[in-house]
Amino acid sequence: MEHIYILAIESSCDDTSAAILCNNNVLSNCIASQQIHEKYGGVVPELASRAHQQNIVPVVSEALRLANITHEKINAIAFTRGPGLLGSLLVGISFAKALSMSLNIPLIEVNHMQAHILAHLINQNSDGSNNANPSFPFLCLTVSGGHTQIVLVRSENDFELVGESNDDAAGEAFDKSAKILGLPYPGGPLIDKYSKDGNPIKYKFPKPAAKDFDFSFSGLKTSFLNFISKNVAQNPSFIHDELPHICASIQHTIVDYTTEKLLNAASQYNIKNIAIAGGVSANTYLRKYLQEKCDEQKLKLFIPRFEYCTDNAAMIGIVGYFKYLNQDFCGLDVLPLSRFAI
Ligand code: KG4
Ligand code: ZN
Repeated sequence: MEHIYILAIESSCDDTSAAILCNNNVLSNCIASQQIHEKYGGVVPELASRAHQQNIVPVVSEALRLANITHEKINAIAFTRGPGLLGSLLVGISFAKALSMSLNIPLIEVNHMQAHILAHLINQNSDGSNNANPSFPFLCLTVSGGHTQIVLVRSENDFELVGESNDDAAGEAFDKSAKILGLPYPGGPLIDKYSKDGNPIKYKFPKPAAKDFDFSFSGLKTSFLNFISKNVAQNPSFIHDELPHICASIQHTIVDYTTEKLLNAASQYNIKNIAIAGGVSANTYLRKYLQEKCDEQKLKLFIPRFEYCTDNAAMIGIVGYFKYLNQDFCGLDVLPLSRFAI
């Protein structure tokens, strides 16, 4: 079998990442995360682009070093075209264009949301695990910091958007709730951590209304803010005293809401293979809760390995590999897209 080497670059938000894949096997997957945003309570776009500029050369060099290959072996360069922050995307795209010109190899544009989903098609056995990849068709809940979508995946290049958020994303709901509690950015992993000793049904929040398989999270943020303000007014140490229960309850609300929509969609579309993707799919409660529901309903659940949940270039590389097989290349005139439909 022919060996196709792809260099993949991801720079859509605040992680600079480069990966090398040989066919559907990941040889290296390097990520430089930006700590600078922590103190601002969210990603500052201008600071993110500057950090990408600093990180991109060392991260790509490190990916090549860890994969133990040189530039000459690379068959094509895959990069994130969007969706994402324009200035951040521009750094990755410009680097990819320059390198493809100098090495005289093709460029492959990748949709970041498709990449989150197709991370499920990375050969798991190459990293020592025995997990199987999902077969088509499968239904994927993509829950990240910028998006919440339910997507029906019929093949590597056939995606149907079944539902999405009309406002905030699930990751944002986690991060903004954490901010209200005085926790640093990104707060999602901290809510996950503090929830471990909490009662998930101690506090109840209204389930947001959105039609069919769409989502809405902005109302939840407001009701959470009102709930915290009211309780802190009565007891200034409310957050301190109740942190595990507050975290577990808001986490349960988000997880129960997204899970319910996903399983209703699976039933309506009669799909038995279910997957989750994106940063929030790292959430331990979501993983456990959804697994229990899928077991009850005899559905097969596919959960990505932790390193392929949050932003990473290996997921860009797997899309790059499939596009390479179809000779689906782009020209040097390609521009970043802050919005990019799946
Ligand atoms: O996919 P991702 O890395 O970036 C985007 O494409 O947006 O997702 C980042 C999001 C953040 O909102 C972060 O708080 C959330 O994923 N996240 C989590 C967990 N790990 C990351 N949310 C809840 N629980 C986690 N364990
Ligand atoms: Zn992402």
